[in-house]
Amino acid sequence: MLSTKVTCNSHGQDSSYFLGWEEYEKNPFDEVKNPNGIIQMGLAENQLSFDLLESWLQKNPDAAAFNKPNTNQSIFKELALFQDYHGLPAFKNLRFLQALVRFMSEIRGNTVTFDPNNLVLTAGATSANETLMFCLANPGDAFLIPTPYYPGFDRDLKWRTGAEIVPIQCSSLNGFRITKSALDEAYKQAEKQNLKVKGVLVTNPSNPLGTSLSLHELDLLVNFISTKNIHLISDEIYSGTVFSSPSFISIMDVLKNRNLMNTDVCKRVHIVYSLSKDLGLPGFRIGAIYSNDDRVVSAATKMSSFGLISSQTQYLLSEILSDKTFTKTYLSENRRRLKQRHEMLVKGLQKTGIRCLQGNAGLFCWVDMRHLLSSDTFEGELELWEKIVYEVGLNISPGSSCHCSEPGWFRVCFANMSEETLILAMQRVKSFVDSMAKKNNQSRHQQLLNRNSRRTKSLPKWVFSLSFHHREVSGADER
Ligand SMILES: Cc1ncc(COP(=O)(O)O)c(C=O)c1O
Repeated sequence: MLSTKVTCNSHGQDSSYFLGWEEYEKNPFDEVKNPNGIIQMGLAENQLSFDLLESWLQKNPDAAAFNKPNTNQSIFKELALFQDYHGLPAFKNLRFLQALVRFMSEIRGNTVTFDPNNLVLTAGATSANETLMFCLANPGDAFLIPTPYYPGFDRDLKWRTGAEIVPIQCSSLNGFRITKSALDEAYKQAEKQNLKVKGVLVTNPSNPLGTSLSLHELDLLVNFISTKNIHLISDEIYSGTVFSSPSFISIMDVLKNRNLMNTDVCKRVHIVYSLSKDLGLPGFRIGAIYSNDDRVVSAATKMSSFGLISSQTQYLLSEILSDKTFTKTYLSENRRRLKQRHEMLVKGLQKTGIRCLQGNAGLFCWVDMRHLLSSDTFEGELELWEKIVYEVGLNISPGSSCHCSEPGWFRVCFANMSEETLILAMQRVKSFVDSMAKKNNQSRHQQLLNRNSRRTKSLPKWVFSLSFHHREVSGADER
């Protein structure tokens, strides 16, 4: 009696990424109420700079009270009646659009500007990505995405649109960088599956890698979409989180520097943005599509009626983002805090012999735990993940949930908890790794004893007495 959409499982809810969240919900860590609970390190949330937003709100009470600034005039009725779903420019909240494009430029060091007329507001990047899929792909058409990628893409890009994802297989050998051969191979794979490739989607900076794309990779991508005559979606939701070098290069910088603005290629490049990560406001659902193609802007605006940003949210955020002194301080202080947290996690893991991919952005590290696997397989990865969730009490995301092609990598988030909680998490990891090493030593020792005892049975008596004597001596040395 129900639609196939309801019964098909392309939503991806049964991935270990979401299962980890469910386990966390059942037994969430709380310093006081549940100190042995699971610590949530599988959620890319930015809680490091809330105090800055809160103090802005305290200093600007009119904005949150929906009064016109420095007046007692309420705009409650205006906001309550404001309707933005016709997609007609006259009805758009231009002030908010202008504030948002200015903020986007500021994040990019003002090297590029964005035209507010090319911006479509959406309920978060989730809605922006899906809307773009509806605009660019027919059911059964494919987008190529470098692996590992954000697990939510299976839901956002495929589930309701019927579009397909074909992975661009990236490897740890070159730090999971995009190469020309990986792009070509993915394109070939799609053709083999009789899928029409409509574009490439990248996340820059990457979730889950925590790295930003290099100029070389961006150039490759632009060349690739030019020759194949396809689209490029650049999800730049983490653009404001780049906390150390190399600095962020937006796809817009590349188009501008290569004199490609106002060309056909430029029209096939679309940017996704959101305030969920940079400002840490995922609950407000503020996202956007920036497209250089008027037809996409027009269609996406019509579609945006299925996922609008409420008028009071737009009002509040236009007040916050129009405060240039605030945005400047916020961006630099937020980056500083992210950098410090990132270092804490990397160094904490280093002390236990766990290494991270060198990152410069994001709210997470891409962590190499290959040496802790019982076998070099995805079964081995899941086995380790279950131990980490249930025994260690940390919810982290296994690489397989991000479609990583190599087992043993995990995404570990660091910005959604207090410093004390992160320290506790590191202590838990340390005692887990130590206990694993101890167990491994014991079992190796036991194996050695077994092998020796098997051997002694078949050896003459004089060999046995010699070896026994030697073991006693070396045992004494060890002590
Ligand atoms: C790469 C990427 N795109 C989109 C989203 C969805 O963001 P939003 O909360 O704005 O819908 C996320 C959230 O984690 C993400 O990591």
